[in-house]
Amino acid sequence: MSTSRRGAFIVIEGLDRSGKSTQADVMLDRLNASGISAKLMKFPDRTTAIGQMINAYLQSKADLDDHVIHLLFAANRWELASTITQTLESGTHVLCDRYSFSGIAFSASKSALKHKEAIPTPSSSDIPYTNPNLSYIWCRDPERGLPAPDLTLFLDISPEAASARGGYGEERYEKAEMQARVREVFGQIGNEMLSHNQNEDRSEPTKDGAQPRWVVIDAGNDKTTVSKDMWAHVEPLIAGVDSPIGRLWYSDDN
Ligand SMILES: Nc1ncnc2c1ncn2[C@@H]1O[C@H](COP(=O)(O)OP(=O)(O)OP(=O)(O)O)[C@@H](O)[C@H]1O
Ligand SMILES: [Mg+2]
Repeated sequence: MSTSRRGAFIVIEGLDRSGKSTQADVMLDRLNASGISAKLMKFPDRTTAIGQMINAYLQSKADLDDHVIHLLFAANRWELASTITQTLESGTHVLCDRYSFSGIAFSASKSALKHKEAIPTPSSSDIPYTNPNLSYIWCRDPERGLPAPDLTLFLDISPEAASARGGYGEERYEKAEMQARVREVFGQIGNEMLSHNQNEDRSEPTKDGAQPRWVVIDAGNDKTTVSKDMWAHVEPLIAGVDSPIGRLWYSDDN
């Protein structure tokens, strides 16, 4: 690999139990086995002081206002943003198990039904929204300017197929309902990212190997098929990236 090339920033996103951590491990092993330098990160990173607050919330040991927990998740990414940047600049690839997109999808889904014009939810119109203040734009703003992935692999699976993998227990119904909303917001984010690609003429892989930034992977397939589908998008990036590290939803005029 040329010393002038930086590592690629590859994010794995998806619903709970879509196979993100399984596939992140497979990909890390595959890269390392080929002698390619790669670092695996995971959000939330529960090792920091902010991460410990998030951990307490997720384990229901602490109650936090929806806005507060959203900002803590974003802050957890900001406190590790320079680590991401430095790692990429040193030539090491960064694989990331969840990122800003999960942060937005989970918080905005709490008010998704309030914003039907932005997120159509015809099948779930009987579900009351829980927090009208957490709009999509409000949720997105604290993530603006974070290092932008070169590639996001969205592991798509129906909430029903995900729940069949176990782990929902007595909260299965509520959890499946939440997952359905989260999937809708992920769909909106994906559309936004793809239209951004089109603006940059990056909606399709190009002759020089440039990749779309948001790729939907059918995560309902067996593990080997999912790994293979993901690798097809990662392989063109393993020689490194020439372009500077981008920033999420960032432009000079805002
Ligand atoms: N393609 C697959 N087919 C069937 N089972 C799978 C597949 N991928 C992962 N699993 C299993 O599903 C469960 C969830 O996988 P995993 O922990 O990787 O998901 P995750 O997306 O990281 O979940 P979470 O969001 O809860 O962290 C595990 O038991 C795993 O072995
Ligand atoms: Mg996981």
